[in-house]
Amino acid sequence: APYQETFRPQFHFTPKENWMNDPNGLVYHNGEYHMFYQYNPYGDKWGHMSWGHAISKDLVHWEEQKVAIPEDEEYMIFSGSAVVDHHNTSGFGTKDNPPMVAIYTGHKQEPEKGQDQQLAYSLDNGRTWTKYAGNPVLDEGMENFRDPKVIWHEESEQWIMVVALSTDYKIAFYSSPNLKDWTFLSHFESPGSELGIWECPDLFALPIDGDEDKRKWVLEVDLGAGEEGSVAGGSGGLYFVGEFDGKQFIPDEDAMPESESGPHQWVDYGKDFYAAVSWSDVPEEDGRRIWVGWMNNWQYAQELPTSPWRSSQSIPRTLELASHDGGLKMVQEPVDELQTLRGEQKSLSNLTVTNDTRSLADWNIQGKALEMKVTFTPGNAEVVGLNLRTGNDEKTVLRYDVSEETLALDRTQSGQVDFHADFPGVHVAPLPLDNGQVELHVFIDWSSVEVFAHDGVVAISDKIFPQPDSEGVEVFVEGGSATFDRIEAWPLKSIW
Ligand code: FRU
Repeated sequence: APYQETFRPQFHFTPKENWMNDPNGLVYHNGEYHMFYQYNPYGDKWGHMSWGHAISKDLVHWEEQKVAIPEDEEYMIFSGSAVVDHHNTSGFGTKDNPPMVAIYTGHKQEPEKGQDQQLAYSLDNGRTWTKYAGNPVLDEGMENFRDPKVIWHEESEQWIMVVALSTDYKIAFYSSPNLKDWTFLSHFESPGSELGIWECPDLFALPIDGDEDKRKWVLEVDLGAGEEGSVAGGSGGLYFVGEFDGKQFIPDEDAMPESESGPHQWVDYGKDFYAAVSWSDVPEEDGRRIWVGWMNNWQYAQELPTSPWRSSQSIPRTLELASHDGGLKMVQEPVDELQTLRGEQKSLSNLTVTNDTRSLADWNIQGKALEMKVTFTPGNAEVVGLNLRTGNDEKTVLRYDVSEETLALDRTQSGQVDFHADFPGVHVAPLPLDNGQVELHVFIDWSSVEVFAHDGVVAISDKIFPQPDSEGVEVFVEGGSATFDRIEAWPLKSIW
């Protein structure tokens, strides 16, 4: 049956069939969340790039639509964004029926080379799209110039485009009154952050410590293919905190805690969270900044052992800034809407474990689509952790190392790992104890694990491919005694 195949995510968006990569054109309009995505309508590997499309009323249940913007003879349709042009500045619609406008990269079909920025618009709530006859709207004669994210900048009352000069490790800013005519504003670069080519930038202001009146800007950039790549290797995201004045982004060094990796902070410490972008036009009374990322990594993206689709998006997450280590960190938390999928809660309190591994089956905690909240006090133990999706000779291990103060997700024995040499591995995040405790929020699906620690200051997102009957959950303690103060678990219903 569709959506029941081995490894088919049950609460993450996947296309029914064929290849998907980056989320594109995330936009809210008239009660619907739209998600477009890089899509190959003709096969399960990258190619014929077009914008696929899905719609949700609740960020949880998605309905796949027909391809929104197909490739044509001249161009493939690469990544980009979408906005609701409320004032009809583009003239594509009317004041009463403002157009939805997609701004994407046109990638010249072989044997030509070159990337430029183009528009398409919809007057029927995103159901049908028309490519603008005046395309391209921005062409600098460059080969690597892509992934425009466009925002309405309230203070200067104009459109701002953030776009990557991928192989120059630069972000360019442009402004426009009407989405058609663009003026260059500035470049942003960051010595020490050239760890992979730059792709899929995003720019937004976030509240600080929950205070809507105190905000700073975040510039997010994704690192693609490169020697070193992101923190866990290969594809991943980084970000800078600072100010944006309508012309340029100025990083705020005081707001960014010292980091070993360079002047930036990491978005996610796992290997499968790439090209994340945030929704435009979420209603002001809601006020959340929400994003999703592509749960894959270009190192092995085309080899994932799934059929007839390949790749999934992450769960939607909200973003905020929180004070940490004398600076500000971007924290990610799963959207509350996901709680509607919860089945009957199972829980336990004050379980002390000494040099042992305990199955949580005794408390009826198991499953392959499962949400868990776990708080533990390491006490005198050296290592405290959880084994997830355990079964015959396999497990995905979440390990907290007390002296190192690190949280690691180890997928070396997680099931199928040998389809690519860069897939198996251990992905480590720094995580100081919080009042002597560790607090984890974990989402387990048929082929992924997403971990949010300490209210989302650390996220680790990884694909896994265990056997379908590997449903166990265990807790373990090494080198002493630790107490699991509280464990809550909910089986999650399928969205399909
Ligand atoms: C990122 C990316 C983008 C590009 C798209 C092509 O994963 O390489 O830079 O627009 O994928 O599919």
